[in-house]
Amino acid sequence: MNGHATGVTVGMRLFDVIEAQRVPFSSACGGRGNCHLCRVQITSGLSHLSPPTLLEKTVLGNVSLAEGWRLACQTEVQGEVAVTVPTPRRKQRPLAKPMPQ
Ligand code: FES
Repeated sequence: MNGHATGVTVGMRLFDVIEAQRVPFSSACGGRGNCHLCRVQITSGLSHLSPPTLLEKTVLGNVSLAEGWRLACQTEVQGEVAVTVPTPRRKQRPLAKPMPQ
């Protein structure tokens, strides 16, 4: 997300901030914490967010959290932050090709 988001209040979920700005990003569960697709990277202001939830610790791990990755639907804004929102994939690739028979 580039630019300055307006209308953001302390305690808003980052998910809702990004949606309000109409920035395309990945989500398949509507912000309920089930899909784990709403990964965003905080480029500054990491200390201005709610602490990582147990779900984020489990899904992202310590390395990704240390690199600033968060699940937007699990993260509350408590101050000024800068966020990089990955471009959503248009099409999911299969994890493996079917075996020839
Ligand atoms: S939107 Fe699905 S886990 Fe965050």
